[in-house]
Amino acid sequence: MEVIGIVSPKGGVGKTTIASNLAIALKNYFGQDVLVVDANLHTANLALYLGMYDLPISFNDILKTKINVSKAIYTHESGIHILPATLGIEEDEHLISASLFRKVISEVGVDYDYIIIDAVAGLSSEVKAAISVCDKIFVVVTPDIPTVYTSKKAIHLADSLNVISEVIVNKKTKNLHELKLHQISDILRSEVVASFNFDIKTVESVAKRVPAIYHSVYFREKIAFLAANIAGIPIKKSKIPFINQLRKIKPQSKKSHQYAHTSITRQFKKDSYPSLRKDKLY
Ligand SMILES: Nc1ncnc2c1ncn2[C@@H]1O[C@H](COP(=O)(O)OP(=O)(O)OP(=O)(O)O)[C@@H](O)[C@H]1O
Ligand SMILES: [Mg+2]
Repeated sequence: MEVIGIVSPKGGVGKTTIASNLAIALKNYFGQDVLVVDANLHTANLALYLGMYDLPISFNDILKTKINVSKAIYTHESGIHILPATLGIEEDEHLISASLFRKVISEVGVDYDYIIIDAVAGLSSEVKAAISVCDKIFVVVTPDIPTVYTSKKAIHLADSLNVISEVIVNKKTKNLHELKLHQISDILRSEVVASFNFDIKTVESVAKRVPAIYHSVYFREKIAFLAANIAGIPIKKSKIPFINQLRKIKPQSKKSHQYAHTSITRQFKKDSYPSLRKDKLY
């Protein structure tokens, strides 16, 4: 099991978009069992991005009542599992600590190939706690000077905690004033493992309440490529587009799955989405 944090000192750069869709790509294309954790207790929106609204128990409740973590884990239609934070207004100033993250990992980690933590923006003690339990973080940056320079701090924080950090560049445009990928890599002294253009279909997907992977062909291909890299799936050079090769790949997971593997394209029926599995997992 590997714990991956999706982190950025800046808000709105695409952390939740990447966390949720990366999880779906890992599950649906490569058969990996994935839990996505919303570590954004006060301004949560992971569940919204997945079209899940009425989830009675959240990460916030785990914090307050000390009930078993598994009580707040839900299965998304794609087969990924989600530990949501509350979409309601939280009055209590509870903070997520490293020990709470460890509790989550020790209670349910054995069930997963990957736990993806969708971090809150900033570099607060909560973010530090999240990074401290990760094997690796992806620092998401947009290609502008303030965001990239601020993101150095996230990389330094990860370094100080002995956690590997890699960079994902999001919302690239053709604007000449933007930083280039090699410049970002130089400034951050870290590898850029993926980059996404600004994609209007990704914006649209939020309004349509569908994860971008189902709505944007561009985003689907890019996130599947990143998922393949993470899962260590070799990508062959071929005239066949990568996304078409994927349908032939069998699930890699060793475990038996509660839900059968189907390709994203076949599984997704626009009219039926989002219809939630209301049943809890545990
Ligand atoms: N590649 C992209 N192209 C265009 N829009 C994008 C892209 N990636 C994300 N977005 C949009 O950017 C907005 C912010 O994305 P998201 O909520 O994922 O960011 P975030 O970093 O999680 O924000 P926060 O810090 O508030 O949690 C959303 O409207 C999302 O659809
Ligand atoms: Mg977010």
